[in-house]
Amino acid sequence: MTQTSDRRVRVFCALDGRDLEAILALARTLAGQVDVFKLGLELFCAQGPDGVAALGALDAPLFLDLKFHDIPNTVAGAVRSVAPLAPAYLTLHAAGGAAMLRAAVGAAREEAARLDRSPPRLLGVTVLTSLDDADLAAQGVAARAADQVLRLAGLAQAAGCDGVVASPREIAALRRECGPEFEIVVPGIRPAWAASQDQKRVTTPAEAARDGADLLVIGRPITAAQDPAAATARIAAELAGARG
Ligand code: C5P
Repeated sequence: MTQTSDRRVRVFCALDGRDLEAILALARTLAGQVDVFKLGLELFCAQGPDGVAALGALDAPLFLDLKFHDIPNTVAGAVRSVAPLAPAYLTLHAAGGAAMLRAAVGAAREEAARLDRSPPRLLGVTVLTSLDDADLAAQGVAARAADQVLRLAGLAQAAGCDGVVASPREIAALRRECGPEFEIVVPGIRPAWAASQDQKRVTTPAEAARDGADLLVIGRPITAAQDPAAATARIAAELAGARG
């Protein structure tokens, strides 16, 4: 949405919910204003692949955020199963381990070759932005969230993933560790004028852009706004101001 000296910051709008008609209406309102529509588990569980295909018919790239996490064979099968929906981006939990990540990467490439199209960009979900250090400690993870994100990102990159999903606080360290080409997708974005809701590790669009994020996932600050198109325009202006 905004052009910077070295990279364009793109806005992925999270269309969460299960009401297909409401989501389609919102998507039509925002078409051309956001770069990608992110569809999640709520819609997929309620509407299935047909619901995703209905959004795909709007001709905007789709980010299928199903956060796969299972044994390698099952995740590879799930990646193959969603390939006909032609998602531009697909997520899987990096905590699923190196073998699971490699199996997903292999399945995505094979299926894309079979269907004669580009494979989806695979993103490893690191630590959910709704979790903080105390939540990790409660799960028996001794590392701080910031360190766990870097560890999981390294795993995802080594397995051939195209990028990661991480909180705003880890952007700068990820950029340093993973290099300029690795895609850093950042949810937990809250403009100063929006409520943080259940997100714990949040930042503003401008700060995320300054830290080196490529792709901002923004849901409720847009979708729950009284005027979603106006909220999107306000975010775009903030991004433009941040990185000139
Ligand atoms: O409404 P909000 O802006 O909080 O939406 C954020 C979106 O990003 C949701 O769809 C959520 O599932 C997703 N997400 C996240 N944290 C992650 C990965 C994905 O919030 N680590």
